[in-house]
Amino acid sequence: MKSLKDNYILSNGVGIPCVGFGTWQTPEGEITVNSVLKALEVGYRHVDTAAAYRNEKGVGEGVKQSGIPREELFITSKLWNSERGYDTTLRAFENTMKLLNLDYLDLYLIHWPAVKGSPDEWQKLNLDMWRAFEYLYETKRVRAIGVSNFLTHHLAPLMKAADVKPMVNQIEFHPGFMQKETADYCKAENILVEAWSPLGTGRLLSNPELAAIANKYDKSVAQLCIRWCLQNGTLPLPKSVTPARIEENAKIFDFEIKPEDMRTIDSMPYIGGSGLNPDTVPF
Ligand code: A2P
Repeated sequence: MKSLKDNYILSNGVGIPCVGFGTWQTPEGEITVNSVLKALEVGYRHVDTAAAYRNEKGVGEGVKQSGIPREELFITSKLWNSERGYDTTLRAFENTMKLLNLDYLDLYLIHWPAVKGSPDEWQKLNLDMWRAFEYLYETKRVRAIGVSNFLTHHLAPLMKAADVKPMVNQIEFHPGFMQKETADYCKAENILVEAWSPLGTGRLLSNPELAAIANKYDKSVAQLCIRWCLQNGTLPLPKSVTPARIEENAKIFDFEIKPEDMRTIDSMPYIGGSGLNPDTVPF
């Protein structure tokens, strides 16, 4: 990957720009519009939002104001947990499209797996959503479909039952939290791993060990973490509302982390993250 416009290729042949602009915790309104505009100005072509972020309107507005042709952009949104079910999924999708003010979506994800009740119950709920996703895919409302926060034991039954296999799994992924079992499973199944909170929601930025490695390359810890995701074959989704940081996070193509430093970072213990576990989240 040499620039923000270079693509990973999904299992269905669709190209996806290798770094996405994250918007989790970006407040709706002018802040969203302006940060999306800034990201697109510095070269991002991929924006990641979700119904639950409540900023889809601002994302759509930023996309429109940028004047960049729609086909040059890659926009992702996600189905929220309250909308599980076939018909509810289709309705939620239309609402997302209305807010984004777009004709089609590039990628639609199930935000969190259903996990409550017996395995038969939660697996059925995941499959109900997935059938609606397959319908949206087959009717060309979305160019690719996938899941988010699915661990191997959530993914495996879905893979078995799915007619169209998920192309993406978006999981928390950053130094100290590589979710190796899930990431390896995805790799083997040709599912692209997207890394949410590649900076550990900012918690990694003051880590002295990461700072020492970043210094060697004359880079910030944020840049190191984003680059590290790429070199691990994942697609990072760094979030910022600060123009200088948005710009900084885009400058990750002029250095390469050496294998020994990759190994050091790969073997770091847990040093902070969201603390959210898909099997126990309260939402
Ligand atoms: P802000 O949005 O106020 O600029 P993650 O992507 O892992 O969820 O991390 C997002 C957090 O990290 C946000 O609090 C964001 O702050 C902060 N952040 C993003 N980029 C940088 C950077 N280059 N330097 C310092 N903090 C950053």
